[in-house]
Amino acid sequence: MFEPVALESVDPGAVEALLDDAFGADRFRRTAYLLRTRSRAIAPLSLAVQQSGQLLGSIQCWPVRIGGFPLVLVGPVAVATTEQGKGIGQLLMHSMLAAAAKIGEPAMVMIGDPEYYERFGFTADATGGWTLPGPWEPRRLLARNAAGLPLPAAGMIEEDDRAL
Ligand SMILES: CC(C)(COP(=O)(O)OP(=O)(O)OC[C@H]1O[C@@H](n2cnc3c(N)ncnc32)[C@H](O)[C@@H]1OP(=O)(O)O)[C@@H](O)C(=O)NCCC(=O)NCCS
Repeated sequence: MFEPVALESVDPGAVEALLDDAFGADRFRRTAYLLRTRSRAIAPLSLAVQQSGQLLGSIQCWPVRIGGFPLVLVGPVAVATTEQGKGIGQLLMHSMLAAAAKIGEPAMVMIGDPEYYERFGFTADATGGWTLPGPWEPRRLLARNAAGLPLPAAGMIEEDDRAL
């Protein structure tokens, strides 16, 4: 089975090529990109799966906030188109969540399909009052609050440059 490694150890060019493959070259227009224009990925929560030197999948997480409330933005989660449906996405998500538990179970947000991400505890239940700096589908704005933190009921999600 695959063993995720730190994304920091992977060639950044290979990561960009994987993201182009999974999301298409127009991916930079996505609203999530507006939340990571100057911040650095959270190293312990950013992972890769490789096989024989080939990058098969990656997950990146970023610091964001609503007012003074810190959140972790999850994504992109990407699996090479030739490797999808083999459990790599789930492995990356479970590995990232295990690492998140070790750093104190921060509250998380992501833009993704609830049909996939509900299995990892992400729902739109708490996000109805949250806004983003670009367009989004409310049903795809998901949060996970495993520690039961007092999430803000409303506010704009903004990028954050705090170090993690
Ligand atoms: C979404 C993605 C990360 C899933 O990773 P994966 O390794 O292909 O998926 P897994 O093998 O872990 O899981 C497969 C299961 O998830 C389901 N699934 C995959 N993508 C899904 C989606 N968008 N919506 C609902 N279910 C989905 C599959 O039908 C399959 O279901 P089953 O277990 O009942 O058969 C991957 O397909 C991908 O990179 N897609 C393109 C980019 C993308 O949309 N990323 C997510 C937004 S951040």
